[in-house]
Amino acid sequence: MPSETTLPFTFNIVPSLESILDKYDNHIARNLSAMKGQYQDRAAYEAKLTEDDPVLYEVYEVSRPPVAGELLMGISIVRPGKVGNEYYMTKGHFHTVLETSEMYYCLRGAGFMVMETPEGDWAVEALKPGTVLYVPPRWAHRSVNTGDQENLVTFFTYPGNAGHDYGTIERQGFRKIVMDHQGNPEIADNPRWMPADVRR
Ligand code: PA5
Ligand code: NI
Repeated sequence: MPSETTLPFTFNIVPSLESILDKYDNHIARNLSAMKGQYQDRAAYEAKLTEDDPVLYEVYEVSRPPVAGELLMGISIVRPGKVGNEYYMTKGHFHTVLETSEMYYCLRGAGFMVMETPEGDWAVEALKPGTVLYVPPRWAHRSVNTGDQENLVTFFTYPGNAGHDYGTIERQGFRKIVMDHQGNPEIADNPRWMPADVRR
């Protein structure tokens, strides 16, 4: 795989239900059990976990050396489904190097990117096929699939040195949540949101 090459290279997004990459060198699958504490309805979360531990999302990455100047690329596939009334979503994270950005291009499905900064700003942007989303430096980001049956598939790219800070979101959650309200997605305040103990 091309991860260490300094020569130009190509890969393809195979047009299929999954829109999978024809070359990748890292595959991550995250199950419900990886999302402890993130869903509002704790009882629904625990009940679902006793039945099964489904994969909520997968990431296929074209890795690059973890240095400034490089760009990692990949595909994120969030499955359709809910825990209680809250849609399947990614863990979400700040970049460890806060001053790094990310670009998403939506290939399939429907959903939202929930975002916020350490300074207290928030934004929720809709994603549908063709949408390009720019996540500026300092904005934590989480993808939410609001589709009934379809995967939410996005292509992403971000700087090689960005890193993932999952801990801050695990502790404080996102300020906004996306819930199914009578069959429609609704953006609401997260009643469980709490400020991180360490402000940046
Ligand atoms: O770097 C990104 O923001 C994406 O590639 C995400 O890693 C991907 O969508 C999975 O989300 P998370 O890393 O929050 O589990
Ligand atoms: Ni990111």
